[in-house]
Amino acid sequence: MWNQTVLQKIIHEKMSDYSLVIASNREPYRHVFADGKHRIQREPGGLVTALDPVMQAAQGTWVALGSGEDDRQVLDEHGKVMLPPEHPAYALRRVFLNKEVLRGYYDGYSNEGLWPLCHIAYTRPVFREADWQSYLKANKVFADTILEEVGNQKAFVWIHDFHLILAGKYLKAANAANLITAFFLHIPWPNPEVFQICPQKKEILEGFLSYDMIGFQIRYHADNFLATVDRELETKIDREKISIWYQNRETLVRAFPVSVDFEAISNHAGSSEAQKAVKRIRHDYGIGKAKLVISVDRIDYTKGIPDRLRAIDLFFDKHPEFKEKIVFFQIGQPSRVHLERFRQLNNEINSLVDEINWKHSQGAWSPIIFTRSYIPYQNILALYRDAEVCIVSALHDGMNLVAKEFIAARSNATGTLILSRFAGSARELPEAILINPYDTESFAGAIYEALTLSPEDKQKKMQKMRETIAQQNIYRWVGKVLSQLLKFEFQEE
Ligand code: G6P
Repeated sequence: MWNQTVLQKIIHEKMSDYSLVIASNREPYRHVFADGKHRIQREPGGLVTALDPVMQAAQGTWVALGSGEDDRQVLDEHGKVMLPPEHPAYALRRVFLNKEVLRGYYDGYSNEGLWPLCHIAYTRPVFREADWQSYLKANKVFADTILEEVGNQKAFVWIHDFHLILAGKYLKAANAANLITAFFLHIPWPNPEVFQICPQKKEILEGFLSYDMIGFQIRYHADNFLATVDRELETKIDREKISIWYQNRETLVRAFPVSVDFEAISNHAGSSEAQKAVKRIRHDYGIGKAKLVISVDRIDYTKGIPDRLRAIDLFFDKHPEFKEKIVFFQIGQPSRVHLERFRQLNNEINSLVDEINWKHSQGAWSPIIFTRSYIPYQNILALYRDAEVCIVSALHDGMNLVAKEFIAARSNATGTLILSRFAGSARELPEAILINPYDTESFAGAIYEALTLSPEDKQKKMQKMRETIAQQNIYRWVGKVLSQLLKFEFQEE
């Protein structure tokens, strides 16, 4: 089985000539000043969940955008801080952008353009030339920072996600000889019909093709990408090797379903520390002894939160006997709050929660607790283990690691997962109760099914899903990426 030690051994044996630098827009930890105190918070989102344990094992440098109010204060003279706070293992090099560039690059091109374009969740993408110019500037700043980190050494540079597609082009232009570059897209890639509306489609595809290898979450996204390139650019596609030749360069195209640190999550969620945290949270939120149905999402229109709330409403209409017996505990992590579409979504969620709670409440009991408060990651893992059911209802998602975290946390091999068919993780987890979140009737039916499943069935399904995620864990994921790039044979441990 792949684990941290196996990965470290591979890095030691096969990568001793190379330094490792990864880059993403989102940083793994943020230094904030909140409630009169200096604190450090782990950032939300699947990218951080996946890469933080990888970097703890690999011990390289992570280049990311500084976004916390205390982020500058804690840096050393090289702009770095060692992480994670409890046992420092890797360096975070923070990049800072001015507000104008940030707005165009992050809010504009990345989140109003590429994000809705790739997710196809019926929010119209917006592309502005000025945002594109900021996107290019920000990608150049990231590339320059990476080049500074690498210096004259040989390095494996691994860029993550849609914010930084163009960084590879600047890297190769500056230092092609010493760098092996890879890119991983954490979100879906659309089909050619959808992608063709992007005004900068040629530049974006050329950005992808400047890397030595590009990775997608699932085969379907990789196939969409091949079809898109086939339609938009003069390339030679090698179907045997699954690679693309463009302007005398070859780019490998692969699918690597991202995962979680199964063992660490499983161990923590079963600890006495976790049990204590659950007691505290149950008390603080007035949950009492009710059974928990949990959901954890960034507040994003792709996550299907209003659809889930409507299904909960219908569920109580049909099954009032569950009133006072269960509580839907929804952790919403604020994200991209400057964007109008995200503000609208927050308002919609607030009014749905108010309405449903008003309609179904009984005495001191309300069906939904929706919190936007920061809950430390370790406590979220504890709650996964405590919950009866976890609901992931994304309208479209590259992978969705909440589903995998929930499974990893169930060291008692019980608990039921309701999972959207439109999340990448559904392909590996057919034992979950799979739903179409757009279909409120059957969604409500799935909640009933999850709550009334026999203990034997629950256990059987969870056991199977745990075997899958234990096997396909995050260390195996990195092992596969490295073996493709460094051309050594990948061996199942
Ligand atoms: C998704 C993206 C990640 C991003 C995360 C958080 O998972 O794929 O790249 O880090 O969302 O998004 P945010 O915009 O809040 O950083």
